[in-house]
Amino acid sequence: MLSFSLEHESIDSLSWSSVCSAPPRPRQRQPAATVRSVRRRRFALRCGLASKAIGIARVIEDVGTVVTSGSKEPVGSAASPPANMEYENKHVLAPMGTLPLRLLAAQYGADITYGEEIIDHKFLKCERRMNERIGSTDFVEKGTENVVFRTCKQERERVVFQMGTSDAVRALRAAEIVCKDVAAVDINMGCPKSFSLSGGMGAALLNKPELIHDILTTLKRNMDTPVTCKIRLLKHSHDTVELARRIEKTGVSALTVHGRRVPDRPRDPAKWDEIANVVAALSIPVIANGDVFEYDDFQRIKVATGASSVMVARGALWNASIFSPEGKVPWEDVKREYIRKSILWDNDVKSTKHTLKEMIMHYSCLELAEGKAVIKSDTLADLARLYGEEEYYQHVNKTRFQDGVD
Ligand SMILES: Cc1cc2nc3c(=O)[nH]c(=O)nc-3n(C[C@H](O)[C@H](O)[C@H](O)COP(=O)(O)O)c2cc1C
Repeated sequence: MLSFSLEHESIDSLSWSSVCSAPPRPRQRQPAATVRSVRRRRFALRCGLASKAIGIARVIEDVGTVVTSGSKEPVGSAASPPANMEYENKHVLAPMGTLPLRLLAAQYGADITYGEEIIDHKFLKCERRMNERIGSTDFVEKGTENVVFRTCKQERERVVFQMGTSDAVRALRAAEIVCKDVAAVDINMGCPKSFSLSGGMGAALLNKPELIHDILTTLKRNMDTPVTCKIRLLKHSHDTVELARRIEKTGVSALTVHGRRVPDRPRDPAKWDEIANVVAALSIPVIANGDVFEYDDFQRIKVATGASSVMVARGALWNASIFSPEGKVPWEDVKREYIRKSILWDNDVKSTKHTLKEMIMHYSCLELAEGKAVIKSDTLADLARLYGEEEYYQHVNKTRFQDGVD
């Protein structure tokens, strides 16, 4: 269980905890989190913040910008990328979500969190902007306020930018825009949707090994950021293995294998045995993906496949606390925390509703009152009201306003 109660904590302590009290994992996380938390407290004290005022500082830190009288420490600024991303023994959030879901998964214990796929064409129209108001780094479609990708300093070491592409040069140009702000860049070679296939992207790449080679080697040669890719199974297991070998030769840091074929439906069982065949043939880390719904499944799929790491999609979308070794938190609590993070990071309302609807469809039903009310909501303020988080919504927005006029 989490060390804080979602129901009864005050706004300030909750937002503080949401930044620095990631539930302890039995691996190296605790010391780092503790050190960071102590540093933050020391920093707040150095700034002469009285203990009552620290509540505000906590919200400010949560939104990512440490503000003191007259001094601002910008966050999310590009630093050099981590020399090496580790892919051994990692629990990975699949590419699906925007910043709040990624931070939530990390809070519960996810080691690596992928962003949802973004198409290179779209990303090439974006410019990088520091969002001082909320402390994020935004990639915004030029001439609009449309945020295509939002990230922040807090996830810098574990966020993976996933791209849809069908062209090596375009992929490189798009990756260069973001590579200093993320831990790795991944190419999606598994998407079976028609828009991907018709554009020669996603699973369409699976029968074009030369193009795969071209894209991955171009990225590898021209960027320091680790490069990976995610594939589905081919019709015959030996073809999947052959393709995986070719991918390994490009020098990628890891390969994710979703244990389904292109025509398979999500309800079809993932073929862990075919992932095992890939693992057996490669030396680089393989991330196994498919049908992980409980914490114990992380170990089960690892044993069954021999994979280095495990990626979970639906299990985490429905309840992000799947990453917690202490067991799942009730989904009502996870949902509330997701709403708070969406408010805090000013998440796009459509994306927030999409994730909420996925949770509701799994645990309840969209036809019931809650589902209908989510569908009807037009703004984050509506959602905050629906879930009794107006006070938090107002507090966060007031703090941002004060930040803006300081
Ligand atoms: C809502 C949703 C969105 C997804 N979006 C992506 C995506 O953007 N890129 C990708 O590679 N896979 C995407 N997937 C597929 C998952 O990453 C994963 O491969 C698949 O769901 C199998 O994992 P699971 O059995 O744990 O759900 C998505 C899945 C879901 C449910």
